[in-house]
Amino acid sequence: MSGRGDVALSENLLVTCGLPYANGRAHIGHLRTYIPADAYVRMLRKQGKNPLFVCGSDTHGTPIVINAEQEGVSPEELVNRYHAHFLEVFEAMGVCFDYFGSTHSPTNHHRTHEIVKANMENGYIYPKNIKLAYCPECERFLPDRYVEGICPSCGAVARGDECDQGCGIHLEPGEILEPVCKVCGTPAEYREQEHYFFRLSAFEHFLLEYLDGLDGTPYAINYAKEWVRRGLKDWCITRNLEWGVSFPGRDDLVVYVWVDAPIGYISFTEEWCEQHGRDWKDFWIRNGKIVHFIGGDIVYHHCIFWPALLRGAGYNLPSAVVASGMVKIEDKTFSKSRGYVVWVSEDYLNAGFHPDLLRYYLLSYTSHTKELNFSWELFAEKVNGELLASLGNFIHRVLTFTHRHFGDVPSGEVDEEILERISSIIDDMVEANSRYEFKQMCDAAMSLADFANTYFQKSEPWRLIKTDRQACAHVLKNCLQLCKALAVLFEPVMPHKMEQVWAMLGLSGSVHDAKLEDALVEVPAGTHIKAPKVLFERIEDEKVKMLERAMRERIKAAMEGKKVQEGEISYEEFSKMDLRIGKVIRAERVKGASKLLRLEVDVGDSVRQIVAGIANTYEPEELVGREVVVVVNLKPAKIFGIESQGMVLAADVDGTAVLLSPMHEVGAGVRVR
Ligand code: 2FM
Ligand code: ZN
Repeated sequence: MSGRGDVALSENLLVTCGLPYANGRAHIGHLRTYIPADAYVRMLRKQGKNPLFVCGSDTHGTPIVINAEQEGVSPEELVNRYHAHFLEVFEAMGVCFDYFGSTHSPTNHHRTHEIVKANMENGYIYPKNIKLAYCPECERFLPDRYVEGICPSCGAVARGDECDQGCGIHLEPGEILEPVCKVCGTPAEYREQEHYFFRLSAFEHFLLEYLDGLDGTPYAINYAKEWVRRGLKDWCITRNLEWGVSFPGRDDLVVYVWVDAPIGYISFTEEWCEQHGRDWKDFWIRNGKIVHFIGGDIVYHHCIFWPALLRGAGYNLPSAVVASGMVKIEDKTFSKSRGYVVWVSEDYLNAGFHPDLLRYYLLSYTSHTKELNFSWELFAEKVNGELLASLGNFIHRVLTFTHRHFGDVPSGEVDEEILERISSIIDDMVEANSRYEFKQMCDAAMSLADFANTYFQKSEPWRLIKTDRQACAHVLKNCLQLCKALAVLFEPVMPHKMEQVWAMLGLSGSVHDAKLEDALVEVPAGTHIKAPKVLFERIEDEKVKMLERAMRERIKAAMEGKKVQEGEISYEEFSKMDLRIGKVIRAERVKGASKLLRLEVDVGDSVRQIVAGIANTYEPEELVGREVVVVVNLKPAKIFGIESQGMVLAADVDGTAVLLSPMHEVGAGVRVR
């Protein structure tokens, strides 16, 4: 067994999870970060390592203030509510943080001030006057999500901090075009104010070297390198808000939530250390090893911004960033507003499912960095076809047989071949865990269950019991050892269920404390084996159908809700739109905007210049001569500095624009109704 001799206690190992915003309920998309991180930590503990595992609520930022305003409660009340909710969900799902803090704690305010001040002293934070969206009606500056406007990069409608419906780029304060106040709908104006910037651009060289040595999921790190190579812009790190961590020396500003959120990782370590007589500096200043588990959407923050901020203040840098792939629901992009969501409490736990089944699904479905699809049908298939048919079946048969024919664990030696098999699977699992390949880890454990089933089947203990009781006892001795090994090896994946197996084997202590080596330690002869309880129950087709129906109804309701929310329009309103067939007479790429094409379109009575975000779908040449549908009377807008005099209609196919065109040529200028 290679690799297990060197697992000396590594005292200063810290594992963290991306902090959930205390702004909404937990859904299974969240769990894709927390469950693998929890399994990773449990596996390390089984190797004799002693990581500290922390997380906490992300409590600041404009969305929280906006939601609290809408609900008529204080931001504090809102975040406390969701903080408690997440704690409950984690407990139910067996995600066992050593500490779950809040970024609103005094420790985090203090640590944020320290890190900001250190960066200022080192010249990495500087003041600068910038033009910011200001609402003349509300008489206030509008921080990120209080503004809506047009993305300067792709022309889509965007919110102040991110082009959330278009190209996805991060928008700095002052970048959004045609800003409108989201509170009162008044067009905002740009006014000058002094803000503070983090000199991210100064860290390009450092980051490229740092990223070369960073461990974790390679795809995330490679992405980050690519971003650095393309050049980094300084970040504005102050906002005009009252809720948050104040910027040192400026009571009218708070720091951007992405500053104090990751600093939470340090503060939570401090708070835990305070309670346990340890020194947080061992993790963050001296020789700690820090592993961040995050969602794939926050790689930029963790691989670029965060290490630079730490470096600028002289703190330890993360050793690994482990980023998960996206979660899809029923093969559709996850979307709360469209109903493609599975809530952990309401949909999953309240339907009576055991938390470990979902843990197994999320860990074993696919590689950690790949897209994960959740559907009730697939869920049932995995539970029935793997947990029930292989793992549960073996354990149940062995325990039932032993109980019936022997009552106690027989004496005798376990075969060397069995121990070797267990040992080699342990090696595979340790290795997979070290590469953050949790599917491979589950598959290795499941291969032991398959091996065990085959062994039981081919040894035919039901025949031996009649002809050779001694030989039968020997087979069962081997099988009981395999049951114990399965309990130990599956504990990181299904901690509650494996505790049940441990108890059914009559073993003392807890499977949670068992080390990997214990999988090879004999189940004591003479231990009484009671009639076992069923470990996994079949998920019936009717239940799957019912859950799928409920999901479809939610999606339908979301669509209808949207219609009501957005308001139907009358025919009169519709007829105000001047829609016409246009013929593309010229098309070219827009320099510096990879998504945009500049088109000249003949709409009958004039030729319109139109800027469209379709460069990902079409080459300019293939468009010339084609007929398209144009909204002719749309107010002209500047997109990337070019006036766009209309809009071409396109189907939005998962973010890709596919142009609409008449079924046969009809000529430029023909009306569309
Ligand atoms: O994206 C998010 O959900 C953030 N709340 C994650 C913050 S992680 C960390 F940096 F604090
Ligand atoms: Zn955009």
